[in-house]
Amino acid sequence: MSDIAKLQIGDNSYEFPLVKGTENEVAINIKTLRGATDGVITIDPGFKNTGSCESAITFLDGEKGILRYRGYSIEELAEKADFLEVAYALIFGDLPSKEQLEKFHSDIKENSVVDDDVKKILDAFPKSAHPMGVLSSLTSALTAFNPGSVNVDSEEDMYKSVVKIMGKFPVLVAWTMRKKQGLPLNYGSKSLGYVENILKMMFEQPNEDYVMSPILKDALDKLLILHADHEQNCSTSTVRIVGSSHAGLFASLSAGISALWGPLHGGANQAVLEMLEAIKEDGGDTKKYMAKAKDKNDPFRLMGFGHRVYKNFDPRAKIIKLAADEVLKDLGIVDPILEIARGLEQEALNDPYFVDRKLYPNVDFYSGIIYRAMGIPVEMFTVMFALGRLPGWIAQWKEMRLNKEPIGRPRQIYTGENHRNFKSIEKR
Ligand code: CMC
Repeated sequence: MSDIAKLQIGDNSYEFPLVKGTENEVAINIKTLRGATDGVITIDPGFKNTGSCESAITFLDGEKGILRYRGYSIEELAEKADFLEVAYALIFGDLPSKEQLEKFHSDIKENSVVDDDVKKILDAFPKSAHPMGVLSSLTSALTAFNPGSVNVDSEEDMYKSVVKIMGKFPVLVAWTMRKKQGLPLNYGSKSLGYVENILKMMFEQPNEDYVMSPILKDALDKLLILHADHEQNCSTSTVRIVGSSHAGLFASLSAGISALWGPLHGGANQAVLEMLEAIKEDGGDTKKYMAKAKDKNDPFRLMGFGHRVYKNFDPRAKIIKLAADEVLKDLGIVDPILEIARGLEQEALNDPYFVDRKLYPNVDFYSGIIYRAMGIPVEMFTVMFALGRLPGWIAQWKEMRLNKEPIGRPRQIYTGENHRNFKSIEKR
């Protein structure tokens, strides 16, 4: 293949260089397009064909169903690594040595206390507030309690911000859930692993010692790893674009949480469970809901199905489906909605509407079933997604700043009124 793309506009032709990634992905570098063509731009709603950056963090091949963080396959990481190792690899470029991991964990623990005044902010929210709104606000509030901007060119400064947010974020997550449940706000224990500590903070009751379940610990580790990064998705692009104005890390993360909240993105895990519950309440007639999903006059979509990039099985969904079977079996739970989910999947995989459009179960289709088995309330599911995605967001923010990317500022094609004269209010 030549390394030049040619563009013809009227009688003029232009050449643009191709950019090739390490996995042979190809892009046309149109950096000079506007200048060369006297103002012509490209338009690509939803950025379906637009690469916003070059990135060395996550590789995703949606046709083949491949997902790798820093070159390591998601299947291997989910089986052999723990979440903190994966977080380190995403943020710092490679898996840590034993010493690096110990130091990382110890520094996180040293930074895991949240200013007590944050409790007052949490207190002011109604119990009915959605946990994603609360988490986004509390993350934003951290900027007030940790003023000063990060000097991204200083490795030490950057490291300090990373361990601060990695330490405090799980506390905010646990408190968000505890507030909703009317439980006292607590802390974990420095003697526990990162994920074990999260479980203790979330589930410890005020009147009994918390007993760690290895089944829950393994399940949460796996879920967090599988959610840890997914290249330039909606929330990650948000984090990068907010950060591109040189807004701080915590402010950028807070914006990312808001982007994740929507049901077409991370909010799908809550929406899937609500959908499965609704189907169960309605007598379990999956065929009726399949028909609704295919009806173009019905806004209903089969939540947890389809993906912008995967046009094959989402590799995360494969792992989570197996994990859901195992966790429910290990915990001795029989959940009728698992049967409904399996039924929907089978029907979709054999239905020309879904087959032709390459719609497969995504990461969110089975994750809620595990969260529910773990005792996590439905409204907290997307918060759990955010907890997993945190290292990915940090890694992408750091990369964007270190690469000195320009401020994100797309163009538009204006379709409004041409110039018109002002009319005084009496004449309107
Ligand atoms: N149910 C029924 N039809 C669907 C679905 C679905 N879940 N998803 C896509 N389609 C149809 C869509 O109507 C369109 O049909 P047509 O070509 O006839 O107009 C076609 O498939 C292509 O869909 P699209 O909306 O153009 O695709 P997109 O890339 O813009 O959207 C998506 C991707 C994930 C937003 C979409 O598949 C969807 O809404 N899925 C349900 C929500 C969901 O599960 N989201 C979680 C995504 S994975 C977690 C994450 O990383 O965020």
